[in-house]
Amino acid sequence: MSNYHIKNFPEYYHVYRNSVRNPALFWEEIAEEHFIWKKKWDKVLSWDFTKPEVKWFDGAKLNITENCIDRHLATRGNKTAILFEPNNPNEPSEHITYNQLYKRVNQFANVLKTQGIKKGDRVCIYVPMIPELAIAVLACARIGAIHSVVFAGFSSTALATRINDADCKMVITADGSFRGDKTIDLKGIVDDALEHCTSVKKVLVAKRINSNVTMKAGRDFWLQPLLDKASDDCEAAEMDAEDPLFILYTSGSTGMPKGMVHTTAGYMIYTAYTFKNAFQYKENDVYWCTADIGWITGHSYIVYGPLANGATTVMFEGVPSYPDFGRFWQIVEKHKITQFYTAPTAIRALAKHGTTFVDTYDLSSLKVLGSVGEPINEEAWHWYNDSIGKKKSPIVDTWWQTETGGIMITPIPFVTPTKPTYATLPFIGIQPALLDENGKEIEGNQVEGKLCIKYPWPSMARTIWGNHKRYKDTYFSAFENMYFTGDGALRDEVGYYRITGRVDDVIIVSGHNLGTAPIEDAINEHQAVAESAIVGFPHDIKGSALYGFITLKDVSDYRDHDNLRKEINQLISDKIGPIAKLDKIQFTAGLPKTRSGKIMRRILRKIASKDTANIGDTSTLLNPECVQEIMDNSL
Ligand code: WT7
Repeated sequence: MSNYHIKNFPEYYHVYRNSVRNPALFWEEIAEEHFIWKKKWDKVLSWDFTKPEVKWFDGAKLNITENCIDRHLATRGNKTAILFEPNNPNEPSEHITYNQLYKRVNQFANVLKTQGIKKGDRVCIYVPMIPELAIAVLACARIGAIHSVVFAGFSSTALATRINDADCKMVITADGSFRGDKTIDLKGIVDDALEHCTSVKKVLVAKRINSNVTMKAGRDFWLQPLLDKASDDCEAAEMDAEDPLFILYTSGSTGMPKGMVHTTAGYMIYTAYTFKNAFQYKENDVYWCTADIGWITGHSYIVYGPLANGATTVMFEGVPSYPDFGRFWQIVEKHKITQFYTAPTAIRALAKHGTTFVDTYDLSSLKVLGSVGEPINEEAWHWYNDSIGKKKSPIVDTWWQTETGGIMITPIPFVTPTKPTYATLPFIGIQPALLDENGKEIEGNQVEGKLCIKYPWPSMARTIWGNHKRYKDTYFSAFENMYFTGDGALRDEVGYYRITGRVDDVIIVSGHNLGTAPIEDAINEHQAVAESAIVGFPHDIKGSALYGFITLKDVSDYRDHDNLRKEINQLISDKIGPIAKLDKIQFTAGLPKTRSGKIMRRILRKIASKDTANIGDTSTLLNPECVQEIMDNSL
């Protein structure tokens, strides 16, 4: 009998030991007992990190939607699968049962087919947090099309880049979206993007805000009339275990965003198993993850993980501040939420308002609180624990990445004693390691190093779409025979992990992983800009915010700086999205460089975080004189 559900610490310890002694045997038992297969596998695991190549359950045939929907119909047909809470609290919420979800996914899948989508085709989904988003994702999976969800807050340029990189044949979108008291013209953004995309043949448009949009004849179709005509019966495609399920883009430190490719069987098993345990989900619980399905958190822990467990998963369209800062807590009370999963940036933004917006609501249904996206600072941790959890709901600080597919280091609630700011212990089957500068593993406790993973786990990304070399270079080349996470971590005296942050040129702003290079590229397109460097600096609410050091082509031209600042931020907003805007922009005469011409971000980081006492030796720089000037004018 496999241990699908971990109930106490000795059991965790025992199961963990077994899972790392014989991973293939461990995951095979989980796969056998808790999922349905059209055909079983030939081999549980084969791997080689030097290629790198990882295959789980090779030879098996399955469809993930049969595991997430069909198999629940007999026992949970009338249970709510997706509970949709709209942006506007006066609009009714919608309960979609497993029976209804089955029908709606099948109808949507049939529409995809009649619109020419086949197994293996890429479909871009640019839809706000409305039920059609989850249904579109599942409809793709039903017929074996590869979904590429692009967060519906990204700009048309960012959207076009992603559509082109994956060669998408179709875009699914909506007329627009509601976000607090604003509406966003999504269809207009799609139209702009498609000026630069030749691969897209069809656009399906869901109606949400009833705006006037232009529909291009032969290309654009309203979704609902097509759904109305479609049969609600669609056979689930037979997929190989290692067939791609989806592509999801994450920013890199250089160049193009990386299209992380996740495959079917391993992803399904790992997201389901982690969901069950990291949130201790029980049959009648109402689970809510506040993330957007445009991020990996939403893929794994709004859609696939919860549905594979037959759970009720909440989808929230709105924002935490609308109509006021009590919105989250009002929803918790309204739907008697049992597990609540959010990001430190949201916690900090809400904590700023004390408990005024908390105290009016009954939060007694809460059992487990989750955090993800960046290190949670001590103050936010305590506010979450005291004011929201009333010291009785354990906080699961879950560390993972787009690349890992599922939660990697986390307490298991009621099992692992928590410790503020610590993600604590590796999840079942996960073998972390800390490495030093020389690539040597650091053993023992009370140590700090670069966080790597030693052994494959089922939900790891298998490649970067169209660029396996970049996959190898980014994750498997820094340290021999290890997956390198890009994060630093420390291990305390009992072996608990604390993630200290990124060690590369990625900055986490409000939980969004932003590569500095694409932002710099956008800035450098401004005609007045010669070059730029972006660094992060500590920010009360966002965790980190962006500080740009920018050199102008005409150094003597200090005219009208505020206008220039606005133009630069507008450019960033257009090219990447408003989340990447700079909080501070300092115009400098030069940027500190090494003799090989590489910008010394380490120095700029110190200046941005007002830590100039520790700036270190600058004498080896090509242009040490610029450092004083930058310090004198820092913001
Ligand atoms: C990076 C991955 C995984 C879903 C959301 C982000 C940081 C994530 C934690 C945590 C400290 C965290 C890491 C990681 N991060 N969770 N609990 N504690 N840092 O996914 O955009 O791929 O970003 O987010 O730096 O590498 P992502």
